[in-house]
Amino acid sequence: MRPGTLQLQSLPPLSLYVHLPWCLKKCPYCDFNSHEWTATAGANEALPEARYLDALRADLTASLPLIWGRPVHSVFIGGGTPSLFSPAAIDRLLGDIRSLVRLDADAEITLEANPGTFEKDRFRAFREAGVTRLSIGVQSFNDQHLKALGRVHDANQAKAAVEEAARSFDTFNLDIMYALPGQSLADCEKDIRTALSFAPPHISIYHLTLEPNTYFAKYPPALPQEDDAWDMLDLITDTTARAGLGRYEVSAYAREGHRCWHNLNYWQFGDYLGIGAGAHSKLSFAHRIGRPVRVRDPRLYMERALAGDAVVSADEVSRKQLPFEFMLNALRLRDGFTLQQFTERTGLPLSSIDQALQQAQDQGWVTLDASWVRPTARGFDFLSDLQSLFLAD
Ligand SMILES: C[S@@+](CC[C@H](N)C(=O)[O-])C[C@H]1O[C@@H](n2cnc3c(N)ncnc32)[C@H](O)[C@@H]1O
Ligand code: SF4
Repeated sequence: MRPGTLQLQSLPPLSLYVHLPWCLKKCPYCDFNSHEWTATAGANEALPEARYLDALRADLTASLPLIWGRPVHSVFIGGGTPSLFSPAAIDRLLGDIRSLVRLDADAEITLEANPGTFEKDRFRAFREAGVTRLSIGVQSFNDQHLKALGRVHDANQAKAAVEEAARSFDTFNLDIMYALPGQSLADCEKDIRTALSFAPPHISIYHLTLEPNTYFAKYPPALPQEDDAWDMLDLITDTTARAGLGRYEVSAYAREGHRCWHNLNYWQFGDYLGIGAGAHSKLSFAHRIGRPVRVRDPRLYMERALAGDAVVSADEVSRKQLPFEFMLNALRLRDGFTLQQFTERTGLPLSSIDQALQQAQDQGWVTLDASWVRPTARGFDFLSDLQSLFLAD
């Protein structure tokens, strides 16, 4: 290993992220590395499941020296639309992973599913393949808003998908977005109440954002005013809390015992190996932290991964960037972090954040209590400003 300037006494827990990059249709707001399958190939050509799985296996094999001997505590199969892959393909993928890495026996294994790919028995088959947690991209239960978002599913399909997830899985998540084109506070309330009627153990609720280089960035729809969006967020936090779901992260709400282990590991600045087209990783070593990135285009990725060379860049996080990178994650958590976690996970001394932490306290954005740093409600509202205090000069 090349030397670096950090001093990590121990390595954090390790997770595995697997990216499956295809979707039935590209949504106009989406800037993820997702590709319309019909645009990538002829409409009648089947998804190259076997070749992509071969590429993932080769990619993981080539990465093993970077995670040698470390147990893997969670797997997240994200996209794109992973539920486009057949249950047999997911079964093979998980078999490959188990044969190559030390996957914990009780590891959390999440798969993202789109209601537009819902078929009876499919979700149960994912469960039988070893998936323990399904994350369903509902977005809204309102047909008009689903249409405005360019989604391929309607409200009835969303409801059927959620019902099946509740039947087949002990734990599952619903992805919901708010501040949608034409959405009123009453519409938002109806969406949240419908979501809660399925008693979901976990909900992720995101403010719709206009991301650069998307169709919506070029042709912006009329969105609710900022004040109205704040009212929606207050309503969401209140209504979910009454239903027993605590807001443990800026966008994540869970019943006791149902927090997402995988995402918590990201937010606690744990390590993750990301395989698949365009996947990002964060890997710690005794004296440095690396961030390898895979080639983004799915076809090129398959070629390169099969040749054992899928990584296009492997920058190191500099000492200067580290405090901000840590805070980008840890300050998203209601419970924040301990000062010991900061030194353990970054390998930096506390003096590197002393000043910024004092400023954050002076602003009333965090509290420091027996070495616990927690964002206040106001800190959550001004999260970007709070995190920016930790930017290098
Ligand atoms: C990586 S996407 C994949 C999930 C799945 N493909 C789907 O869309 O149903 C994860 C979630 O991010 C959220 N998301 C994607 N683009 C967003 C945007 N521009 N603003 C807010 N949330 C967004 C959506 O809720 C989506 O379900
Ligand atoms: S289905 Fe999900 S990943 Fe695919 S384009 Fe839409 S938001 Fe993006």
